[in-house]
Amino acid sequence: MHDLDVLVLGGGAAGLMCGIEAAKRGRRVLVVDHAAKPAEKIRISGGGRCNFTNLNCTPANFLSANPRFCISALKRYTQHDFLALVEKHRIAWHEKTLGQLFCDGSSKEIIRMLLAELAAAGGVLQLDTEIKAVSKPDERFSVATSRGTLQAASLVVATGGPSIPKMGATGFAYELARQFGLNVIAPRAGLVPLTFSDANKELCSRLSGVSVDAKVSFQKTTFREGLLFTHRGLSGPSILQISSYWQEGRPISVNLVPDTDAFETLRRARQETPKQDLKTAIGQMLPHRLAEELSQAFQLKGRLADQSDKVLRRAAEQLGSWQLTPVGTEGYRTAEVTLGGVDTSELSSRTMESARVPGLYFIGEGVDVTGHLGGFNFQWAWSSGHAAGQVV
Ligand code: FDA
Repeated sequence: MHDLDVLVLGGGAAGLMCGIEAAKRGRRVLVVDHAAKPAEKIRISGGGRCNFTNLNCTPANFLSANPRFCISALKRYTQHDFLALVEKHRIAWHEKTLGQLFCDGSSKEIIRMLLAELAAAGGVLQLDTEIKAVSKPDERFSVATSRGTLQAASLVVATGGPSIPKMGATGFAYELARQFGLNVIAPRAGLVPLTFSDANKELCSRLSGVSVDAKVSFQKTTFREGLLFTHRGLSGPSILQISSYWQEGRPISVNLVPDTDAFETLRRARQETPKQDLKTAIGQMLPHRLAEELSQAFQLKGRLADQSDKVLRRAAEQLGSWQLTPVGTEGYRTAEVTLGGVDTSELSSRTMESARVPGLYFIGEGVDVTGHLGGFNFQWAWSSGHAAGQVV
C-alpha cells in the first residue's frame, strides 16, 4: 500500500478519527505512527478511564489566537456524535462532574473502538514507522519512512504536541508546518502544575497532599475546582485550568473560602468565642494544616478578642484573594496539553487544510486550539479529525 489517497501521520485520537472518516468515504487510507502502540495518550488519559468528551462543550472551552476557528468543526461533529459512537460500541460510561464523560471500565475500550471502526472502514494502521522526510515534488506528497517511501494525494498531520515526551510525543507537527512555510504560534505547556520558589515553595511542600475547593483566577478568568498542594507548588484541576491562561511574572489569585464570607465568620466568632485563637477560628473554614501554615505565613495570631475589625478584614482578604506569583510550570514533562501550535490563520476552519499547501492538513493538538481540562481536548481531536476526514 504505497500509493495512497490519504496518509495520516500519527495514530492518536485525531489521526484515527480522520482515518476512519476518510476510509468510510472509500479513500485508500494509511495511518502511520512511530510508536509500538497506537493512541497511548488515550490509554493513560482520565486516570485510565479516558474523559472522552464533555456534555457542556462549547467554543468558549477553547483557547486559540482565533477563538472562532474551532466553531465550525465542533458544530459539525459534536460531543453527542462521539457519545453515539461510544454507545454503538456498547461502552459503558458515566458523567463524573461538570459534564465530564468517562468510561466505566477502561480507556482501552475507546482505543479498541477506534481501531475496530478503522478496520471496518478499510483503513490500515502501521506502527513502528519513523518519518524521515516529507516532500511534495509534484501534486502528491512523498514521505520517506523507516519502512519505505509512501505517496499520497492528501497528507494529514496528526502527531499531536510535545507534552509528555516520555510517551513519544514530539514537536514534529510544528517542524513540518515550518518546512512548508506555515506560521506556528509559540508552543508552551498547558494544563500543568505551577511551581514556586523560596517561602511559597516551602509552604507548598509542607502542605503537600492537602487539597481544598478553591476559586483560582488570573486576570478575568476564574475556575472553581480542587486545588492540591505539592512538593513543588500547586496542582489540582483549578490550577491546571488557570495554568493555560497564566503569564510569566504575574500573580494568580486564590480564593480558599469561595462559599464563605470570611470577615463575617471571623467577626461572629469574635463575638461568640472571644477567647479563641484567630488561628483556630480560621481552622473552622479551612483544613487544619492549611489554617496553621497560613496563619503563620500571614502572621495572624493572638486571641480573637484582641483583633480589630481591620485585622479581621485583612485576614479575610488574604484567605479570599491570596496573591501568589509562580516561577514557572512543571513543563512538558507533566503537561496534559500544549498551547499554541500551527497558526489557525493558515488553515481552513471547515476542512483543516492549509491555504498555502493544497492537500496538507493539520488536526488535533498540533493546531493552535487548546481545550480546558474536562474532555475538551479529545473533543477537539474528534471534531478536527472528523472535519478533515470528510474532504481528504
Ligand atoms: P495524540 O498525542 O493523541 O496522538 C499523536 C500520535 O502521533 C501519537 O500516537 C504519537 O505516537 C504519534 N507521533 C508523534 N510524533 C510522531 C512522529 N514524529 N512520527 C510518527 N508518529 C508520531 N484530554 C481529554 O480530553 N481528556 C482526558 O482525560 C485527557 N487526559 C490526559 C491525560 C494525560 C496524562 C495527558 C498527557 C493528556 C490528556 N488529555 C486528555 C489530552 C489528550 O490526550 C490530547 O489532547 C489528545 O490526545 C490529542 O490528540 P492528538 O491526536 O492530536 O494527539
